[in-house]
Amino acid sequence: NEGSLWGGRFSGGPADALAALSKSTHFDWRLARHDIAGSRAHARVLHRAGLLDDGELAGMLAALDALDDDVRTGAYLPAESDEDVHGSLERGLIERAGPALGGKLRAGRSRNDQVATLGRMYLREHARIIAGGVLATIDALVEQAQQHLEVPMPGRTHLQHAQPVLLSHHLLAHAWALLRDVQRLQDWDRRAAVSPYGSGALAGSSLGLDPEAVAAELGFDSATHNSIDGTAGRDVYAEFAWVTSMIGVDLSRISEEVIIWATKEFSFVTLHDSFSTGSSIMPQKKNPDVAELARGKAGRLIGNLTGLLATLKGLPLAYNRDLQEDKEPVFDAVDTLEVLLPAVSGMIATLTFNTERMASLAPLGFALATDVAEWLVRQGVPFREAHELSGAAVKLAESRGVELWDLTDEDYAGISEHLTPGVREVLTVEGSLNSRDSQGGTAPAAVRRQLTALAAQLEEA
Ligand code: ARG
Repeated sequence: NEGSLWGGRFSGGPADALAALSKSTHFDWRLARHDIAGSRAHARVLHRAGLLDDGELAGMLAALDALDDDVRTGAYLPAESDEDVHGSLERGLIERAGPALGGKLRAGRSRNDQVATLGRMYLREHARIIAGGVLATIDALVEQAQQHLEVPMPGRTHLQHAQPVLLSHHLLAHAWALLRDVQRLQDWDRRAAVSPYGSGALAGSSLGLDPEAVAAELGFDSATHNSIDGTAGRDVYAEFAWVTSMIGVDLSRISEEVIIWATKEFSFVTLHDSFSTGSSIMPQKKNPDVAELARGKAGRLIGNLTGLLATLKGLPLAYNRDLQEDKEPVFDAVDTLEVLLPAVSGMIATLTFNTERMASLAPLGFALATDVAEWLVRQGVPFREAHELSGAAVKLAESRGVELWDLTDEDYAGISEHLTPGVREVLTVEGSLNSRDSQGGTAPAAVRRQLTALAAQLEEA
């Protein structure tokens, strides 16, 4: 049973069918260099515990360095007979250090605490890369908002015209959501920065090893306080899968709008040629594939989360082999976002907005009716009555096929004595927008303050 991690109590090797089922090198090999980093730290605590002498430590570290080089260059790859990354690298170590020395490294550790630690190391690294991609997407939104700070557009609820808003305000709404995603990744990292190394198979170690020293060497803040939790807990992975799903959902919501905005009917945006695709049959086509792939991949990310949660839900403590299924969902989430984020941020950064069309549509659909009602409130009319009076004006305008500003002073006076010509001050998009200068409102002055607040939080992120 050459190269296997066990065998003493078995009379033969595993069946081919079991070996094929068991195998994980095709997806866990990406942890190889983290595994070697863990081995270096483990060798040092074995040395400090008196289980490796100075010469053995030096020999072990030299062999690990040689193995690391070969892994990095691709000269060392998992063999067909290797079950997982940990077993394969022990084989590689023994080839370089010899069985007498190489066979000593496994003391006091288990693949259970190794794999739980290496996964966290990998995810922490990639959480930073993903956060960088989300920040680049936020930058693209902020840049577009600054370029179009005072451009009005139709604000919608239920996809119906609701009230005019600034395009900048709308774009920044997406930026705030993505900023919270970055903050979530940072907050997640506090829980991920705890090392399970030293938990052993489930019960800790009898060899006087120092898990805190391993944790520190591997860039963690501390070591786990419970070896069962350390080896069997996967909430940190599940939380990562949730945060990455949320990022996918947030990108999907932006993308859905880009898809709608790019239709002939809306004609709010033109996609840059370099971020759109053509059709193999229809020569005129220009398709928003980036946005559609973002929308599609959100489903995939959600699937990763639900699949992982389903794997975890019935598991008794401590380690069960089901947990080998923990890696592909989170690795896929990493791969998906790392390829998606640059495309979405590029698409946003290169969008051209049809600002005249957006501005001209902003007041249509009686989108200023709320302004009329709130103007009446400022004249002392109770809102209930103001709502009714504004609604009557809408009804009259609609029956004539005109807009609110087309009604005459007499028309307004006929509806109510309160509707004096002064109401015209809010019957323009500009008047409507300027009036909404509360914190978080869409007035240009409020959006400028918003940009300052966002910049301050981005500074900290
Ligand atoms: N490859 C396994 C995993 O990814 C780790 C090995 C633990 N196997 C075991 N029989 N205890 O979870």
